[in-house]
Amino acid sequence: MNNSDSTIHSHPYHGTFITFEGIDGSGKSIQSKQLATNLQERGFKVVLVRDPGGPYISEQIRSILLNVKNDGMSPTTELLLYEASRAQLVHEQIQPALEQGAIVVCDRFTDSTITYQGHGRGLSTDLIRKANDIGSLGIYPDRTFFLDIDWDESTRRRSKDNKVADRMESNAHTFFENIRSGYEMLCEEEPDRIVKLNGKQSVETLEQNILSDVLLIIDNKQEKG
Ligand code: TMP
Repeated sequence: MNNSDSTIHSHPYHGTFITFEGIDGSGKSIQSKQLATNLQERGFKVVLVRDPGGPYISEQIRSILLNVKNDGMSPTTELLLYEASRAQLVHEQIQPALEQGAIVVCDRFTDSTITYQGHGRGLSTDLIRKANDIGSLGIYPDRTFFLDIDWDESTRRRSKDNKVADRMESNAHTFFENIRSGYEMLCEEEPDRIVKLNGKQSVETLEQNILSDVLLIIDNKQEKG
């Protein structure tokens, strides 16, 4: 992992913005929580959020997005709902926290829109980038961890959890393979921001690698004042 400052224009605030990405079942939620706990134990102020979700308004939009009854939703409606949910999350929680110098750990963000609505649904990625600029209020992460697993592993993990598939998880195998290759493309485009990690490594190994990298980013930011 390198600690380049090429992401310095990601946002203008003192805080640090970390996101987790990957296909469903990749371990993002566990790693987001572990990172938040590890940083809190070291005395940092941390705000842990998920996208879509967080504020009441965003959670309501999340319910619409994931409800299997909404299987007639068009890709454009889907895109705009993800952005609407995000705009509220950034406005109410992410932006104020970054302004106050906190570390924001977010389970998914704008890269999910490029991969799911772009590579998955087939919407133009140029269009999505414009929509992302609106939904994110122009705020982008300092570091993104892409936890990479294949579809078989994702299916195995989700069936072990015994949860009913939501509207997004009910998509076909090819949808997720397209999303995975979308993430690969993003890693190539933005190697200084996005770190790809093998999601099949143990939770503990991933947790340690992620923590060391984030501590370096924080140090680097503090040195620059
Ligand atoms: P989660 O289960 O990881 O919280 O995410 C909810 C679902 O929403 C997941 O299947 C990925 C999907 N998603 C998109 O399709 N586009 C987006 O912009 C985001 C943030 C999530």
